[in-house]
Amino acid sequence: MIQEALKALRRGEIVLVFDADNRERETDMIVAAEKIKPEHIRIMRNDAGGLICVPVSWENSEKLGIPYMTDIMEEASGRYPVLGKLSPHDIPYDEKSAFSITVNHRKTFTGITDNDRALTIGELAGICRDDRHESFGDLFRSPGHVTLLRAADGHVLRRGGHTEMSIALMEMAGLTGVAVCCEMMDDRTGNSLSTEDAMKYAREHDLIFMSGAELIESYMEFRS
Ligand code: 5RP
Ligand code: ZN
Ligand code: CA
Ligand code: ZN
Repeated sequence: MIQEALKALRRGEIVLVFDADNRERETDMIVAAEKIKPEHIRIMRNDAGGLICVPVSWENSEKLGIPYMTDIMEEASGRYPVLGKLSPHDIPYDEKSAFSITVNHRKTFTGITDNDRALTIGELAGICRDDRHESFGDLFRSPGHVTLLRAADGHVLRRGGHTEMSIALMEMAGLTGVAVCCEMMDDRTGNSLSTEDAMKYAREHDLIFMSGAELIESYMEFRS
C-alpha cells in the first residue's frame, strides 16, 4: 500500500490519509506541493471542502524562518493582550497546533483562485527544492490565502498530525518536503467525512486510502 501511495504522489496524484481514532478522526487529501496544479485545488475545494493547507518540513521551516502562529501571538501579546488570552492550550485532540503564517506569491492577484493558490504553492516548493530559501521574503507576501503548517522537529516520531504524515510521505517518495493537505468534509451531516465514506470516495476515484498507523509504521521501517 505504501509503495502504491508513494508512486501515486510521484505521479502528482492525491492520496487520502486518515489520522487515527484517538485524534482528529479526519481523512485529508494529500498531494506533493511540487506537483500542484490548479485542478488539485479545485478537487480539494469541491470534494474535500476543508481548509487547504501547506505542511512544510521542519528543515524547510527552519531555513525559511517561519514561526508557529502561537509564537507570533505570544510575542505580540504585550501590545495586544487578547492575543495571549486566545492561547490554543485546550485543543481537544493534540498538544500543539501546527499553524504558521499565511502567504501569497507576489505574482498572484487576489491569491485565492485555483490558479493563484497553485502558483503560490508551486513556487514555495520550488524555492525549497532548489535551496533558495533566502528569496522567500522577496517572492511572497503575508498575510495571504495559503496557510502554512510547521512540521514538528522529528516529524511523525514526535507528532502524528497530517502535517507530519504529509511530510513523511514526501520524504519516503523522495519529493521536496512541502505538501498540500485538505480535510474531507461531509456535505450532508456537517461533520468530517466518515472513514467509510472516505474509503468509498477513494474506490470511486481510484485513489489510495491509508491509515496513519500504516503510514507511521512504514516510516519507522524506512528510517531504520
Ligand atoms: C488544518 C488542520 C488539518 O487537520 C490538517 O490536517 C493539519 O493539521 P494536523 O497536523 O493537526 O492534522 O487542522 O486545516
Ligand atoms: Zn484538522
Ligand atoms: Ca463539497
Ligand atoms: Zn489533520
